[in-house]
Amino acid sequence: MEPTKLKKVIQGIPKAELHLHIEGSFEPELMFEIANRNNISLAYDSVESLKKAYKFNNLQEFLDIYYIGAQVLIHERDFYDLTWAYLKKVHGQNVVHVEVFFDPQTHTDRGVPFDVVIKGIYRALEKAKSEFNMTYKLIMSYLRHLNEEGAFKTLESSMPYKDWIDGVGLDSSELGNPPSKFLNVFKASAEQGYKLAAHAGEEGPVEYIWEAINLLNVDRIDHGNRCLDDEKLVQVLIEKNMGLTLCPLSNLELKVIQKMEDHPILKMLEKGLLATIHSDDPAYFGGYMNENYYETAKALNLKEEHLKQLAINAFEASWLNSDQKKKHISYVKTYFNSLSY
Ligand code: ADE
Ligand code: ZN
Repeated sequence: MEPTKLKKVIQGIPKAELHLHIEGSFEPELMFEIANRNNISLAYDSVESLKKAYKFNNLQEFLDIYYIGAQVLIHERDFYDLTWAYLKKVHGQNVVHVEVFFDPQTHTDRGVPFDVVIKGIYRALEKAKSEFNMTYKLIMSYLRHLNEEGAFKTLESSMPYKDWIDGVGLDSSELGNPPSKFLNVFKASAEQGYKLAAHAGEEGPVEYIWEAINLLNVDRIDHGNRCLDDEKLVQVLIEKNMGLTLCPLSNLELKVIQKMEDHPILKMLEKGLLATIHSDDPAYFGGYMNENYYETAKALNLKEEHLKQLAINAFEASWLNSDQKKKHISYVKTYFNSLSY
């Protein structure tokens, strides 16, 4: 498809974003604005010099900068502004449903109360619901480079906000921090009624994906790039209809893949895996949902039928109820049918 047409088609697709770290949507301009009003000085003297630092050879190099950026978030208003900026942006890209991760420990461990973080995020999500008719789920992620005790404390802090939180996730430095480290807290989280997701097979080996499925009992795998290394695992993922939330621009920027043409998502679709496209940390990786779709489609020469399948898969893999899924999927089908006329 010719670039202008492809962009137009992608813009019009009703989309669901299932893999987005709200702290990763922190655009440098807003970071400077919030740093200034909180009297915090950043290690960079301008937006341009900060952006120049966004060159990563692996996940850890990115996380080191990402955690520094998040330190300027102090007040409820800061979390609100961050979340609202993201929601406004993706509303403009025809994203109609979002499932947003937040990392409580990134904030509570430096003295910002859990309440402050969640209230700001929640207020923005509710505003998007009423102003944009957007639906949402909120996912609290445990930081896997920290210990399980810290995750248990986070679970406890979330108890007064159980009605606002839909599930838990597992993120941060993957290598050396297998899902099995969080076995007990995931079990306890499920007992509280939370749905479960875990980053697995982004940089880590296929064993981590097996652990996320067999030990943590996750409902969804974040990334899962490495699953194609193991045909038996692929069959299990297909049988379970397990969602895999892939993030192509993130994979490229973090050198999980060397070039976009190497991205496994097309092979995954061809095998019948429930693979989907998302943005991960759009402020750091050069693009939101539309840009992720576009760069992937261009490099892999995706056809309309692939774009349609990706959009349907995202609603299928979402935590919406079955009636909501059906409704959104029928809108996606109507949209693609309308393109043929
Ligand atoms: N936290 C934010 N982005 C992440 C990623 N891509 N992998 C693991 N943890 C993260
Ligand atoms: Zn992620």
